[in-house]
Amino acid sequence: MRPLSSTVVEFLSGSEAETDRFAAALAPLLRPGDVVALDGDLGAGKTRLVRALAAALGCDAAQVSSPTFGLVQHYAGPLPLVHIDAYRLRDCDEFEELGGRELFEADAVTLIEWADRIAPSLPTKRWTIAAEHVGPTSRRYRVACPPDERAARLLAAAAGGA
Ligand SMILES: Nc1ncnc2c1ncn2[C@@H]1O[C@H](COP(=O)(O)OP(=O)(O)OP(=O)(O)O)[C@@H](O)[C@H]1O
Ligand SMILES: [Mg+2]
Repeated sequence: MRPLSSTVVEFLSGSEAETDRFAAALAPLLRPGDVVALDGDLGAGKTRLVRALAAALGCDAAQVSSPTFGLVQHYAGPLPLVHIDAYRLRDCDEFEELGGRELFEADAVTLIEWADRIAPSLPTKRWTIAAEHVGPTSRRYRVACPPDERAARLLAAAAGGA
């Protein structure tokens, strides 16, 4: 990871194993109630990162797939995950009609693919992770942390070679 500002770091992953290591560095910073907006094109590596985070947090990573089957998947674990895919949603109104905000659970971390489609429905205090395709086995992840004490921990992780 390399710092880009006081709350933003960038991680260039050269392999899926590196994405797993990146997720392992990020996972201890997540806490119940967090909302993580995941942006990036088709195949950018959003779901793959959710799978890596699920594994790092002690959830069953094998359950993680793009929730194209529906809007949401839940993964049980010490820190449960709510995995939302907004790709098929028209807009925020549709999200709200489906009970969207009620999906943000206080005791879980909510990860939302294609979050930019429903940005107005998201809490302003949130994580944003932008995924980008770089090459066949490489992806760039840019992480913006909520402006709280975790920003310093994120930068420390980056400085420590994570
Ligand atoms: N370094 C890497 N990190 C993560 N994924 C990688 C990497 N290299 C290759 N990949 C591959 O990139 C693909 C990313 O697909 P993924 O389903 O995560 O994309 P997505 O952003 O969720 O797309 P969609 O918007 O269609 O849901 C996977 O097939 C994964 O194996
Ligand atoms: Mg996906």
